[in-house]
Amino acid sequence: MSRFGRDTEEGVTRLAFSDSDIAAREYLRKRFESLDLIVTVDQIGNLFARRNGRNNKLAVLGIGSHTDSVPNGGKFDGVAGIAVALEVLRILNERKYESNQPIELVVLAAEEGSRFPIFLGSKVMTGLMSLEDAYRFEDANGTSVKEAVTKTLGSEHAESARKPVGYFTAWIEPHVEQGSVLEQHGCNLGIVTKIVGIQQLHVAFGGGSGHAGTPMNLRRDPMVAAATLIAELPRIASRVSSHLVVTVGALKVTPGASNVIPRIAEFVMDFRDFELDGMERFRRVMNQRASEIAENLNVSYSIREISKSSPTPMDETLIDLIEDTANSLALRTMRIVSRAGHDTQNISRIARCGMIFAPSKGGISHAPSEFTDWRQLTDVTDVLLHVVQNLSIGGQLGFS
Ligand code: GLV
Ligand code: MN
Ligand code: MN
Repeated sequence: MSRFGRDTEEGVTRLAFSDSDIAAREYLRKRFESLDLIVTVDQIGNLFARRNGRNNKLAVLGIGSHTDSVPNGGKFDGVAGIAVALEVLRILNERKYESNQPIELVVLAAEEGSRFPIFLGSKVMTGLMSLEDAYRFEDANGTSVKEAVTKTLGSEHAESARKPVGYFTAWIEPHVEQGSVLEQHGCNLGIVTKIVGIQQLHVAFGGGSGHAGTPMNLRRDPMVAAATLIAELPRIASRVSSHLVVTVGALKVTPGASNVIPRIAEFVMDFRDFELDGMERFRRVMNQRASEIAENLNVSYSIREISKSSPTPMDETLIDLIEDTANSLALRTMRIVSRAGHDTQNISRIARCGMIFAPSKGGISHAPSEFTDWRQLTDVTDVLLHVVQNLSIGGQLGFS
């Protein structure tokens, strides 16, 4: 998969609905079709590969992840989960295994939020965002989600993206940890108990554009406001909550020239916590401090919410099932929280959800040196295979 969007170094740039993402999806489609899976797409670009069961009226057992990446990201985030899920379906075919209900591998669209807002595919799927609202977002070049999805889907018939509660009997996403906890504890595999809540805010300071020779006391410089606020974020974060993390990874300065005082400095602030209280406190304190900074520097300040998801617990029964299964395979496991966001936190609105993590070397992710050994993904595959078989017998553990 890393052939699609490979950078000159080790990394991969496969932004949502870009040519390389479309090529990766087409490659996967061929793999799905060669396994006799029924391939469909929906109107936001989620790609489904269905393996029918004995009773196809039953709710679907869902597994999957995403193919898009951040700019110059790693080979494993998202794709590892797709590879694991695909291998599970291949083995079920090889064994001529008959599940009770259908099983669907879902390639969720636009997870990363690097080109368009984060989690578009799962948000529209679960009703957190309407298709119309999703279609209206534009990337930095002014290309809308609607144009990008239309290009991706071509002339293919697209199903409605909205899935009701009860569509999935359960949803499980295999993924790499993107942290170093499993490695530090010498574990083969992690069972996710909770996924971090994420808010993304668009913050803009506006001032008066001017010449670089303007005396300091006559300026209204939005860049100084942005820099002051960003420099204070770590202190604000540690004051409001011990777990809150905050990141500003991209800054846009207009007009953007070395000898011009900018007119606008804007950026997206991403903050995360496992407690809603901490997130709300952070937003309040940060907002107040940003207003003060703007007032002191005589610049304007505005804030717009781009995305908000709450800290999300995984389903207790699935946690136990995944854990028992892994332990019965003599794997060293631990329960773990996810510091990265995942579509699964949205899917938990409509289904009972679980996640299985493979260790990440050195905890590195969203970077070219992201690495997980195939052996470790094999362990996750074994566990997912057994869990899927267990759930697909039907009537087990309250899953119909
Ligand atoms: C998704 O990768 C995120 O956690 O931002
Ligand atoms: Mn991911
Ligand atoms: Mn990611």
